[in-house]
Amino acid sequence: MLSIVVPTYNEAENIPELVARLQQVLQGLVYEIIIVDDNSPDETAAVCSALSSEFPLRLLQPRGRPRDLALSVVEGIRAAAFDIILVMDADLSHPPDKIRTMLKAIEDSPGVFVIGSRYIAEGSFDRQWSLWRFLNSHLATLMASPLTSCSDPMSGFFMFSRTRIDPATLNPIGYKIGLEILIRGEFDSIVEIPIRFKDRKIGQSKMDFNEQLKYLRHLRRLYLHRFGSFAELFLFGLVGASGFVVDILFYYLCQTLGASHLLARALSFWPAVSWNWALNRRVTFSERERRPRVRQWSEFVISSLMGFGINYGLYALLTTQVSFFTAHRLAALILGVAAASCFNFIASSLLVYSNTRN
Ligand code: GDD
Ligand code: MN
Repeated sequence: MLSIVVPTYNEAENIPELVARLQQVLQGLVYEIIIVDDNSPDETAAVCSALSSEFPLRLLQPRGRPRDLALSVVEGIRAAAFDIILVMDADLSHPPDKIRTMLKAIEDSPGVFVIGSRYIAEGSFDRQWSLWRFLNSHLATLMASPLTSCSDPMSGFFMFSRTRIDPATLNPIGYKIGLEILIRGEFDSIVEIPIRFKDRKIGQSKMDFNEQLKYLRHLRRLYLHRFGSFAELFLFGLVGASGFVVDILFYYLCQTLGASHLLARALSFWPAVSWNWALNRRVTFSERERRPRVRQWSEFVISSLMGFGINYGLYALLTTQVSFFTAHRLAALILGVAAASCFNFIASSLLVYSNTRN
């Protein structure tokens, strides 16, 4: 017994053929098709209601949120009648004749996550991709590689048992719902079935630059989930590095405008610290509770100044009191920066961006 979840947006012309092909390959099985359509302006609703008299097909049309493939799939999973769930695209890119092989894998061991993969031996895609699309796809896969050992975690063609995941824990955004389920579910292993990914014949892809930005936001959530504070520390470091660039730019800008180098140094601290505060609020600690801006900014400034005190103090102490550092000042500088960074991160994580205070 199988529930097939198909997210759609403007696929009215593809749905009838998909449904017919599914019927062909699944004869003798109990299954249902759940079309989760984001209120497409085309004929999708009419097409589905016509098909539903002849095929085991249901249409869901969620409302009240922006259009989103991954969220549509989550809604389909919640609504499914059976525990074995297959997710696939409507545009016939995913070969229905692999479904039985996938089912067999789940029946043999119910705890596996089965994925239709383009990137293992015998898997492939249709025509020559443009270099741009190729790089994009591989970069996206590479960025997910610390999270999973799967060779094609970007695939939208996968099967799993719903008993292995609590749908309430799913918090995806964008396209990569397979990756989301793979990371948040409790699967024993991954089974990759080679597929040939065919380019759609009708309609067009909805993947665009905005979806790629969403992927970055989605990845951040998954890294935080998997690596917790280490992911925050990493992002905090990235933000700090970008703030350093802001600092340098303003330092030179002020001097170009006529300020002395000492004044420029004192001035450029402010845009840099504000930049860091804002990015940490939006990126590093964005899942944390929002605290009042002015107060949080002030605390961040204070903690940064204290961090600078530690940085400078340690440098001064080591280079005057310890003979090794008198000879190796750079080492003292690095230690100072490292100690201050630790201090800043701990202060930010526990106080400035904490959840528990107001
Ligand atoms: N409900 C809903 N909401 N469905 C959507 C939305 C949306 O906002 N956007 C797209 N879909 C549906 C499409 O109608 C189609 O059935 C399926 O999701 C895939 O969308 P495409 O626009 O055809 O995606 P693609 O071909 O560029 O990408 C596919 O291949 C990628 C790998 O190259 C997808 O399978 C991706 O998940 C996959 O990463
Ligand atoms: Mn497609």
